[in-house]
Amino acid sequence: MKTAILSLGGSLLFSGSFPDTDFINDFARFAEKISQKTRLIVVVGGGRTARSYITAGKKLGIKDPAQLDWLGIEATRLNAGLVKRCFSSYAYKKTLSNPFKKAKAKESILIYSGYKPGFSSDYVAAACAKTYSIGIVLNLTNVDFLYDKNPSTHQDANPIKKASWQEYLSMFPLFSPGMHCPFDPVAAEFCRKNSIKAAIINGRDFRSIEAFLAGKKYKGTLLERRVTTL
Ligand code: UTP
Repeated sequence: MKTAILSLGGSLLFSGSFPDTDFINDFARFAEKISQKTRLIVVVGGGRTARSYITAGKKLGIKDPAQLDWLGIEATRLNAGLVKRCFSSYAYKKTLSNPFKKAKAKESILIYSGYKPGFSSDYVAAACAKTYSIGIVLNLTNVDFLYDKNPSTHQDANPIKKASWQEYLSMFPLFSPGMHCPFDPVAAEFCRKNSIKAAIINGRDFRSIEAFLAGKKYKGTLLERRVTTL
């Protein structure tokens, strides 16, 4: 059975300050359907909970970035626990976190949370790609493409359909706890070194996700090692 890695961005999991139960339920049903043919590794992000706790930690005087990251990691575990419990017998009952160790589970859906400080859940997804020998990560987010400017603050932002990791890293060179970016730069550097690709797709666009998994044309951005035209 083919395996696919989905990095489920935390931005998709919330509607305002409350978990987006409609989306989580729709996603779970969609993932169950897909998992009949494709085994899924789903890495769950921390979203709003991670950012609220990291901001609160900073306000409380926590300066060590690793300690702020741990607050984010704990948020990913909470979110992963919620997502995992939406699957019936399809998902492995434990939340996994070490992406460098292959899970012995037989289930068709595996749920991962964050792992260690210094990166985001995108890195966990990229490391899983290496461990499970899968050449591409599906990065599910709340926008349709990678853009040349932040589309939520710039109306004239243009979509970028293909970019090399080098080009991507020149746009987002540095990681910081709770940072907002389409794909974490530590994960991007890992993908560049290990020749792993990533596709950025809107996580609510199930049709594009399905098309991508079937090797068909999809709406989204492809990031890969080779230099392409921006
Ligand atoms: P996430 O990867 O959960 O971010 O990390 P997110 O909310 O999904 O991001 P979007 O929505 O896709 O942009 C949240 C924070 O948790 C810490 C980091 O501080 C990260 O910024 N974290 C998470 C880690 O330190 N290690 C991990 O493995 C995961």
